[in-house]
Amino acid sequence: HEVHYFKKVDSTNEVAKKLAEEGSPEGTLVVAESQSRGRGRRGKKWVSPEGGVWMSMILRPEIPPMNAPQLTLVTGVAVAETLKSECGLDVGIKWPNDILIGDKKVCGILTEVSATVDMVDYVVVGIGIDLNVDVDLFPPELRSGATSLKMELEREIQSVKLVQKFLINFEKTYGDFKEGKFPEILKEWRILSTTIGNYVEVHKRGRTLKGEAVGINKDGVLIVELDDGTLKKVLSGECIHVK
Ligand code: BTN
Repeated sequence: HEVHYFKKVDSTNEVAKKLAEEGSPEGTLVVAESQSRGRGRRGKKWVSPEGGVWMSMILRPEIPPMNAPQLTLVTGVAVAETLKSECGLDVGIKWPNDILIGDKKVCGILTEVSATVDMVDYVVVGIGIDLNVDVDLFPPELRSGATSLKMELEREIQSVKLVQKFLINFEKTYGDFKEGKFPEILKEWRILSTTIGNYVEVHKRGRTLKGEAVGINKDGVLIVELDDGTLKKVLSGECIHVK
């Protein structure tokens, strides 16, 4: 596989998208020590100092664009499994893509898709893990909701080793995905999920939907039961767990 390593870039997702446009193959990896314009979901900024894992992968699965969001869940399962087995941490996944320790976020995933109407051209999956970083130095509004592996374990973790283990896990899970085993991966996801069973608020385009997250369907869509008992399918959005 092609690996592109940088000391500093604007955003590894941006670099990966450019490479994908120029024809870089599936499996191409872009890694940076720090990012000057790291991006989160919904146009948010992603703080990316040295010490974290900031990387993006180029994938070219032969799937309809509709199924591309499933790759976020596939990646989430691979990250969560890696943190569990390598660091012995009890991690959970908050739908659709936040990896949590307790109720604090330690990793985010940003999936960007380029496709025609019926086929995916490429998908860039960006992964940000707060590894050896001090979230006390983050802007105040992000501090309380975030944690890092170093803070949880009270020691530093070797990033190269963690990335290698993740790639091995991902290759396996992604291989299963391409063989049509998404239902099996979803089973794993459901076990790791902290969202199912929770009362949630989902924010999307200025609208808020409130209810109990009762499940996730075979496509990876969240099912929320509103207070009046009706079921709503939620494809994407910002999800808050309400206690
Ligand atoms: C989120 O939870 O909002 C997603 C965060 C994704 C951050 C990663 S870091 C590597 C890649 N490059 C970016 O600019 N963003 C993703």
